[in-house]
Amino acid sequence: MSRIAYVNGRYRPLRKAMVSVEDRGLQFADGVYEVCEVRGGQIVDERRHMERFDRSLAELRIARPMVPTALAVVMRETIARNRVRDGIVYVQITRGAARRDFPFPDAVATKPTLIVTARGNDIARLERLASEGVAVITMPDIRWGRVDIKSVALLPNVLAKQAARDQGAHEAWLTDRQGRVTEGASSNAWIVSRDGTILTHPLGHDILPGVTRSVVIKVIKAQGLAFEERAFTVEEAYQAREAFVTSASQIVLPVVAIDGRPVGNGAPGLVAAALRREYYRFAETS
Ligand code: PDD
Repeated sequence: MSRIAYVNGRYRPLRKAMVSVEDRGLQFADGVYEVCEVRGGQIVDERRHMERFDRSLAELRIARPMVPTALAVVMRETIARNRVRDGIVYVQITRGAARRDFPFPDAVATKPTLIVTARGNDIARLERLASEGVAVITMPDIRWGRVDIKSVALLPNVLAKQAARDQGAHEAWLTDRQGRVTEGASSNAWIVSRDGTILTHPLGHDILPGVTRSVVIKVIKAQGLAFEERAFTVEEAYQAREAFVTSASQIVLPVVAIDGRPVGNGAPGLVAAALRREYYRFAETS
């Protein structure tokens, strides 16, 4: 079955779905995106993802090309046309196509570009990663100063992820100048410290406010676990009892090695397993 993409009002086979060569997403990475998990044919945490999407658009002053209820219909139609039961739906809006020039083009003449795609996930692989745990490496965070905006400018993330792959790891944890972990290349980063406190970087301009992160915090609070939103250092991570990453589609993945050193006893931790198990009781599906 050929995959179908929605682009600016039309559903087309992927190889025929096109945007202009002058699309500002292509020329300047002038656009934002969201990735929602699809589980059992339903979108997980759509409201939270769409709220973040609106915020990203507002921060970059990109107009929404479609009202939220219409976009919700397009997302569902794209999921249905691609027969996705368990996977992801991807939504991207760029500032649109215009003659290449750095300042914003005329907002009346330039319509934002809307792209929606959907694809299935390799569930068996994700389950295997969850039961075996994954390795991460650490490297300097060289991204821009507003990574709280979910923009498509992801080149540093791409390079970090490739560095992880080259070293046989699943994810790269990015570190600031003080040697503290900000987040992963495409996930939020967490540890359970030596004294049993769950730690993750506080919100601000230097991490993406992960939707999964916000739901995991609800799970942690409901379970009465010790928790602090505080940046942790790479040294603390090496000494941690447990570590894990969170993102839509991966949900909670245990980290069993950091820079080649085993975390705790080198096996997935109990806290990560519990948070993963409880996650969907707190997520919204629609
Ligand atoms: N990435 N931090 C970064 C840099 C991310 O790219 C992501 C998600 C997250 C986790 O956010 P959430 O829980 O809302 O998925 C944190 C998505 C999945 C991606 O780019 O494919």
